This record gives sequence, C-alpha cells and structure tokens, in this order.
Amino acid sequence: MNEDSRATSRSKPDFEATKAYLEAHSGIQGLKVLPPEAVDEAVTQFHRDGFVVIGQALDAEQLEILKLGVEQAVAEIVALDPKGKGNRGPGRYSFGGSSLSRSQLHRPAWQMLLSVEPMQRMLDAMFGCQDYRLRAASGDFCMPMTMDYQRLHSDVRDWVDAETTPFSAFYDPSGRLSLRDLPCPYICVNFLPQDIHALNGPTRQIPGSQKSRAPIPRLEQEPEWMRLSTVTPVPAGSMMIRDVRAWHGGTPNLSNEVRAIPNLEFYAPWFREPIVPGISIDDFKKLPPRAQQLAELCVPASGETFITGPTLKAP
Ligand SMILES: [Fe+2]
Repeated sequence: MNEDSRATSRSKPDFEATKAYLEAHSGIQGLKVLPPEAVDEAVTQFHRDGFVVIGQALDAEQLEILKLGVEQAVAEIVALDPKGKGNRGPGRYSFGGSSLSRSQLHRPAWQMLLSVEPMQRMLDAMFGCQDYRLRAASGDFCMPMTMDYQRLHSDVRDWVDAETTPFSAFYDPSGRLSLRDLPCPYICVNFLPQDIHALNGPTRQIPGSQKSRAPIPRLEQEPEWMRLSTVTPVPAGSMMIRDVRAWHGGTPNLSNEVRAIPNLEFYAPWFREPIVPGISIDDFKKLPPRAQQLAELCVPASGETFITGPTLKAP
C-alpha cells in the first residue's frame, strides 16, 4: 500500500470501528506463552494444536541483531515496490519470495538464529532427534495500514506438477496417503522482533488443522471465529513454532509499524523437497559447528556460483 492509499484507508469511517472490534475480540482464548524450559508441555501442545509459542527465546543482544537485520531487509525490499503492491497481497511480503536465493540466509541476522539454544532444544524434542535440516531462512512482513486478510493456507502440499510449483515432493502412487497422514514433515520457527498485538497483523492459526483433509476455506467462506483465532498477545523475543501443515494466514496491520516474523524452516530427517542454496561457502564456513550441521543442505554444490539479492519475484 503506498502513502496515498494508506491515507485513504486511515480515513475510512469504519477504520476506528474495525480497530475497536479487533481489540475486543481478536486473540485465541487462553493462549499460553510457554517459558523456554517447558519442553515437554511445548511438545504436547505442538502435536495437539499444530503450533506453540515460546517466550524469551532470544536474549537482548540477539533481539537487537534481529531487529536491525529485519529493518535492513525490509528497506531493501520495499524500495523495489514504490506502489506497495507486495508479493503476498497488497502490503504483504515474503522474505524468501523477495530474494533471488528464496532465502535470507546470506544475512547475518538470519544466520544468528541457527544458534538460538531454546529453538534447538525444542526442535530436538519435537523431531525426536538432531538430524533435522534447514530448508530456508525466510518469514514475512506486512506494512502499516495493511487492511486485508491473507487467505488461510498451508506452507506445504502433496506433489503437484513442476509448472504449478517446483517445490512439492510427497507422492503416494496408490492415492491413499497424504502428507497430512504423516508425522510433522516440516517445522517453521518464526521469531518475533516486535511485540505482537491485536492490531499489528497477528498470524491467525487454526488449532488442530494440521491433519485435516477438509478443504481450506477461502476468505469469503471463512467463519468469524477463524478470523479472530490470532496468536496474540506475544512479547518481542518470543518464537512461534509451527507445523506448516496447520492452516494459518495474515490479518490486518492497523498499526503504524511494520510487523515482521522472520523464520527458519526445517525438514524432518525423513522428508525433503528441492532446496535452493541460501549461503555462500565462505559465509557457511564462518558458522558455528551446530549451525553448519543444520544448514548443510543450503550450501551451493562445488563449482556452483551463489547468487542472491532483493527481488519482488523470486525465481
Ligand atoms: Fe504461510
């Protein structure tokens, strides 16, 4: 959304009413922000609901690094889009979808996230081993005064042809099994560089939808309780760990600030889809040993040149 249309949105008579309504009703009732040491409870909640929120995941220094890194990435991306059209709907941008490498792993702020210890502990317990691997470092952001909802969706799908997407993999020739019948194949960890509240575009998550084979409702079909099923309030420095099969979507950002949820995305040891290299060999070698292990599939093949940079349409 550009400056003119933002001004128009702000002056709409229903703006104040929408704000008051969301303030009063948006937010999952009884949402828990668990402490980083509550690993067992987090694992139980993750497998039940398809997501869980962990507070105090980042220390003060990590939070500062992430804020600055996000600020820089956002500035570079929106500079390409003066009309604010976004690449996930008006005012909405995917960090991966705005990078030639489909990832932000070339940026030190995203590399730092690989070494967040509470995340490593949680993922070890959720995957039941340490052999999960990074697929990409991405996430999304939405600009101030983004009025629209993003439709509910999953971030992974069963195999479809390469023209539809080159990134699907799971295929059962008998047609009996879907990814939704399996244990969680792929976990996304979103880190929150700012507080999340009812008015700055909290993610809506539909609890327990990760195994559902029901069609995901389009915006016009979506019941109101789903539109209000938002992960809020959550303090800055927290992380939201998601089974990417669970239905989720963006909500309006009626605040004056950018809402960003940078992430790391990990495949279970038994699951792979095509991976685009996200970091140069030289930068990879500077990572700590555990971070190198996690990111080992994101390195270019020998002789392959690593290319990245901002774009509005990732290849
Ligand atoms: Fe998504």
